[in-house]
Amino acid sequence: MTSTASYDSIASIYDQYWGQEFAEFAQDAFRTHLANALPGNAAVLDLCCGTGLLIAHLDALGYRAFGVDESLGMLSIASRSAPRAHLKQADMAGFRWNTEFDAAVCLYNSVNHTRSLDHLCAALANVEKHLHPRGLFLFDYVSREAFETMWESNEEIDAEDGRGTVRYAYDRNTRRATCFIDHQRTAIRQISLEREQVYQALHYAGLEETLLAFHRAGWIETVRKDGRIFISAQDEYRSRFILHLRQKLKLTDDQIGIVLANGKPPYSLDQIPAILARASADTKNSDAQLTRKKEMPSG
Ligand SMILES: C[S@@+](CC[C@H](N)C(=O)[O-])C[C@H]1O[C@@H](n2cnc3c(N)ncnc32)[C@H](O)[C@@H]1O
Repeated sequence: MTSTASYDSIASIYDQYWGQEFAEFAQDAFRTHLANALPGNAAVLDLCCGTGLLIAHLDALGYRAFGVDESLGMLSIASRSAPRAHLKQADMAGFRWNTEFDAAVCLYNSVNHTRSLDHLCAALANVEKHLHPRGLFLFDYVSREAFETMWESNEEIDAEDGRGTVRYAYDRNTRRATCFIDHQRTAIRQISLEREQVYQALHYAGLEETLLAFHRAGWIETVRKDGRIFISAQDEYRSRFILHLRQKLKLTDDQIGIVLANGKPPYSLDQIPAILARASADTKNSDAQLTRKKEMPSG
């Protein structure tokens, strides 16, 4: 099998110039945001896994590590870094795996490598399809402001095939960021993403941030400050109750709304069947009344 992915040509120097430096950040992000929420033998997917530095770390920690990348050059290094990991060459929107992942990660600008908003939506929907219903997805992305202010620069590299310059350019009109590796005549392209676009794509994929989704449904009050979401202790308790209704009892959003409107804290699971039965009887009665009214003779 061959690939013509843009990273093939820099796979051999990726870790030296970019990968190693980022690996520490990736491990730290995993430890901070995911590790506590996962069982010891969790199945974790690294989407756009590159040379596999993170999956090697996950494998060493005892997780079942899976990696997807479009570049065979990057994957061939990953297979040496993490020989026990399951690796697949595929586009992030097109991979198929017969495994339900406890968590997925997509790190180091990888989300910015999508070709368009449609491609991003398809990639996130594909992640959602492979995640356990309570699975978690951790990713980063580079915003327009960051590309505008921090991207443009030059870097000298010393590759196997000679010295060269890497030029980082950003076009504000097309919002495309390009990394030109001059001596190899390679260009790696990324797009900048607005926060709203990322939310739109997450929403499309059914991967909304849980607390924000509860807030939008009017079930809890959240306050957002400096990128963090705050909720009161009472609403945190309510959120846990909602999660239980959704994940364990598999209630629909309409049913959750009815339970919340009729139950009072401390919420009792015992009351739920009665609340739902009463609501369903009320609906039937009002439907029946409507029907009867329609049937009454007009004169
Ligand atoms: C910046 S590297 C990040 C690699 C790795 N996650 C890390 O932290 O070092 C981006 C990776 O995304 C992969 N990639 C780019 N576009 C892709 C696509 N459409 N589908 C799958 N992989 C893709 C590249 O081959 C490359 O390995």
